[in-house]
Amino acid sequence: MILVTGAAGFIGYHVARKLLEEGREVTGSDIVNDYYSTRLKWDRVAELKAHKAFVFHQVDLCDYPAMEEIFKQGSVREVIHLAAQAGVRYSLTNPQAYQRSNLEGFLNILELCRRYKVDNLIYASSSSVYGKNRKLPFGENDVLEGQISLYGATKRANELMAHSYSHLYGLNTTGLRFFTVYGPWGRPDMAMFLFTEAILKGEKISVYNYGQMKRDFTYIDDIVEGVTACLEHRFGYEVINLGNNKPVELLYLIDCLEKNLGREAEKLMLPLQPGDCESTYADIKKARRLLGFEPRTGIEKGVKKFLDWYKDYYRV
Ligand SMILES: NC(=O)c1ccc[n+]([C@@H]2O[C@H](COP(=O)([O-])OP(=O)(O)OC[C@H]3O[C@@H](n4cnc5c(N)ncnc54)[C@H](O)[C@@H]3O)[C@@H](O)[C@H]2O)c1
Repeated sequence: MILVTGAAGFIGYHVARKLLEEGREVTGSDIVNDYYSTRLKWDRVAELKAHKAFVFHQVDLCDYPAMEEIFKQGSVREVIHLAAQAGVRYSLTNPQAYQRSNLEGFLNILELCRRYKVDNLIYASSSSVYGKNRKLPFGENDVLEGQISLYGATKRANELMAHSYSHLYGLNTTGLRFFTVYGPWGRPDMAMFLFTEAILKGEKISVYNYGQMKRDFTYIDDIVEGVTACLEHRFGYEVINLGNNKPVELLYLIDCLEKNLGREAEKLMLPLQPGDCESTYADIKKARRLLGFEPRTGIEKGVKKFLDWYKDYYRV
């Protein structure tokens, strides 16, 4: 059985769904917190529950005994750990949430994987670990120049913690550095979602760094391919970028949204926010070599798929 943590979350939902569609047994866990709409999270869980081979537990990662029950009950062979406190900006105002979910929660996962002899732990890291790095594209062998947000620091800490468990206990761990993931059922705190909401309501959108930001927007189906490909491998310790390898300017993203929505955005041009970096760009040679990873969805097609879902889900 595979345990997917964060199954009520954006990426966890898609990963669990793909595995269920492939006929695998999946146990999902999530605290279903209100960092963003719990309705959206429960709707994702409801979709997953339509599959007989899906079991869901509403559990806090920090509740060790409750998490241990999951490992005791089912024979968990593989863990895809996607539960975390996400978001760069929120980590400036709510640092404790990151300490709890991303450090304490991550340690519990490592301990349970060790104690219950889990064969493979795949977990979410982030492009944020590249922090101060300027050299583009970002490669896994780059020296990390320093963290610029607590969020990035907790994700880097996860990689270091995973290394120690791989070294000490032979736990197979793969950390995936995701680059700005988007798509249907996406996260309401992220730019694409916020822009869409504001454009449709005729409200102003906040465009940071005066639009001079580049993000390697990566479509969810490509990410899911990369995550599930890791199940076929036992790497010992590995860290791998999963990105689209084609950074896009924020203004181009806005342009795509405007064309698809048939409305113009009212832009409020603002400086770069503390904790944010100007550009992200994934070097994916390693993902290609180790996982056969090949992103297939460009931003134009991906934006359309996101908006088709958005209009249908919110009936707009
Ligand atoms: N979406 C992206 O662009 C992106 C980029 C880089 C890294 N990541 C990482 O990928 C993972 C999944 O991200 P996502 O976009 O699906 O985020 P998400 O917020 O939609 O999902 C994370 C889920 O974790 C749950 N969670 C948080 N704290 C918990 C706790 N203490 N116990 C149990 N559950 C808890 C939340 O309720 C949420 O449903 C996260 O680790 C995130 O940091 C995401």
